[in-house]
Order: sequence, then structure tokens, then C-alpha cells
Amino acid sequence: MRKKIVAGNWKMNLLYAEAMALVDGVIDNYDESGNTEIILAPPAIYIQQIVSRLQKCPQVAIAAQNCSEHVKGAYTGEISASMLASIGTEYVLIGHSERRALYHEKDVQLADKVTRAIENSLLPIFCCGETLTQRNESLHRETVQMQLEKGLFHLNENLIQDCVIAYEPVWAIGTGVTASSEQAQEMHAFIRQLVAQKYNANVADHLTVLYGGSVTAKNAQELFSCQDVDGGLVGGASLKAEEFKQIISAMNSIIAKS
Ligand code: PGA
Repeated sequence: MRKKIVAGNWKMNLLYAEAMALVDGVIDNYDESGNTEIILAPPAIYIQQIVSRLQKCPQVAIAAQNCSEHVKGAYTGEISASMLASIGTEYVLIGHSERRALYHEKDVQLADKVTRAIENSLLPIFCCGETLTQRNESLHRETVQMQLEKGLFHLNENLIQDCVIAYEPVWAIGTGVTASSEQAQEMHAFIRQLVAQKYNANVADHLTVLYGGSVTAKNAQELFSCQDVDGGLVGGASLKAEEFKQIISAMNSIIAKS
């Protein structure tokens, strides 16, 4: 079975005490029998502290929200993949639409970030997704295909197996508008087909593909029930411990039924 994941992307939210309270809220009474892998992506400055708080929770892993495309050196303000790995980070988000749009991150740069992550045994969660204009012009498939080909598909068959893909339509992020389960399923199946064409059916079958964009406790069950949706990358709703736990429970109950 594919790895099922619910990941919380906290973005640039929460002061230190609030962040620690949220971690405690997520791990408080969490369902140890559940088979969902939980990932928290806090601001990098909190990672080390959270890693030590999570020592008794093997189902919860930490992701960074970004890493540098460079190995080390004179890049003021940047954080390298090796630094993140050295403090216990396991995953890193790469190519989030906010990084692409607000920080003008380009595909070649994202490909280098993926390489830096892999070199340091950080697992990339590679984000892709179209804007509303691209969807309205029926360019959503082509857009996602280009993003994957340029940013991720330079990896060989062995290395791609460690990656996670997150399909996040830009028009659904932080807007309260979610892709319908049909739209999500269609794009996830398309992504899996691209992976099968580039690598093979076995790799495609085993690759975890998450949906992101206004996932909430209300819609998680329906979205995660789609055949090719292996969980979610959750922004706003991951900042509320109770709601985030409900989203994790939705995934747990789907796994239990399968
Ligand atoms: P959202 O964010 O759940 O607040 O839409 C998702 C994301 O940006 O990963």
C-alpha cells in the first residue's frame, strides 16, 4: 500500500509558545493505532525544539518549508538542506506555489533544491499546480506536467521513490475553494500516469500523491476517498489542533476500511 500522509504547512504563522502549544495539541491523545503518517512543517526556527518534543511520537515527522538550492556558503538568510537534516528534519517542501509566485523560484532552481534535499537524505514533498487562468484555459495538465518534468523528473528511478508529490491547484490555496473530488482525482490520476510514463507502473503505483488547497475537516473524507489521493497538504486547517486531528482521523478511517 502507498504511504498515506497528512501534512500541516504552518507557513509563517505562530509565535514560539503558540507553536509549542499546537504541537502538544496535535500529539495529545493522538490515535497511536492510526496508520497515517503525520508531518508538521513549522517555520524552520522551531524545528529543533519540535523534533525533541516529538521523540515519543514516531508517526509524526518534521518537514521544512523550503531549503536552499546551494550546498553552503555566502547566501545570507538561507538555510541549507544539510543544516535541516542535521537537526532531525525528515522532509522538505519544494516548489510551493507561494515560493514560486512570491519569491520567483524557477524550475531549474527547484530541481537543484530537490537534488540538495536528496543528497542530504531529506525527502522532497514536491508541490505542483496550476493557476486559475491556466485552468480556465485548459492548461492545467500541461502546467503540472512541465513543473514535474523540469523540477522533479531529473531524479532516477531509485531516487524518485523517496519523493512525495503534492498537487495543489493555486486557486484552491487559502481561498476556501476546494477542488472537487472529481477534479482532484482526475489530476492525481494524470500525475500518476506521468510518473508511469517517465519511470514505470510500479514506481507510479507506490508514489504518494497528496492533495492541497483548502482541505478542512469537512471535506477531507471525500477528498481522501479518491483512489489516487493519498492524503493532504493542509495549510490553514493545520493551525487548529482539533481540526487537524479530525483530518488525520478521516485518513485513518479510510485506511482502516481499505
Ligand atoms: P490551505 O493551504 O490549506 O490554507 O489552502 C494549503 C497549502 O498552501 O499547502
